Amino acid sequence: MRKFLIAGNWKMNAGPVEAKNLAGEINSWAKDNSFKSEVVICPPYVSIPFVAKEFRSTECKVGAQNVHNQDNGAYTGEISTSMLKELECEFVIVGHSERREYFEESDELISKKTLKSLTDGLKPIVCVGEKLDERKSNSHKKVVKYQVEAALNGVSAKQAENLVIAYEPVWAIGTGETATPEQAQEMHHFIRSLLEEKWNKGVSDSVRILYGGSMKPGNAKELLSQPDVDGGLIGGASLDSGSFTEIISISESISK
Ligand code: 13P
Repeated sequence: MRKFLIAGNWKMNAGPVEAKNLAGEINSWAKDNSFKSEVVICPPYVSIPFVAKEFRSTECKVGAQNVHNQDNGAYTGEISTSMLKELECEFVIVGHSERREYFEESDELISKKTLKSLTDGLKPIVCVGEKLDERKSNSHKKVVKYQVEAALNGVSAKQAENLVIAYEPVWAIGTGETATPEQAQEMHHFIRSLLEEKWNKGVSDSVRILYGGSMKPGNAKELLSQPDVDGGLIGGASLDSGSFTEIISISESISK
């Protein structure tokens, strides 16, 4: 049985003051409601301590949006796994399409970050997903297969216990356009088959595969009801505590 993971990616939004308020709203909802889904918010680095502090009184968790693949040293502007752990982060997003596109992160670098996170006890949420032209030319599966295999290079079956994958079709991110539940299910099932090929059925059944790309209260039920969709990586809608907590409630109403 895979527990839903409902993750918010605040991207470059919500500095410390706003983050504290928003996390406070989510946390007070969490105090008043019981939920079995795992809930995590990934704020910008500078806001992490404020969110972590709010979340100490509930089961909500905090994560980061990126991490470096070295322990420490002369890497100006970078943040290490040990620093994130010191700030109580349990999860870290790795290889988001915005990092691939705007910061030229390669599959090789994403693989290093994934392995470093797992080795150091952080749970990476590894993002994969095709661009619009790749979907239109019907090469979406080939692209995602390459990304998954490259990112997981060197990851052991044991380490996969802490692995999360997020399928985020680039054409659905921040566009208001969502993959249909059928498109999401088809790709999630395909990704799971790749995990089975790499390791075995036990491992592939246990890894959570999240959907990301304009998930909101209006479409969450259909998406989360798909057998291979184990949660959401939510951008825009996670910046509104009402929408985000509604998605958590929706996940609670679905039993798989
Ligand atoms: P939106 O939910 O705003 O489309 O963003 C999705 C995303 O990129 C989450 O990482």
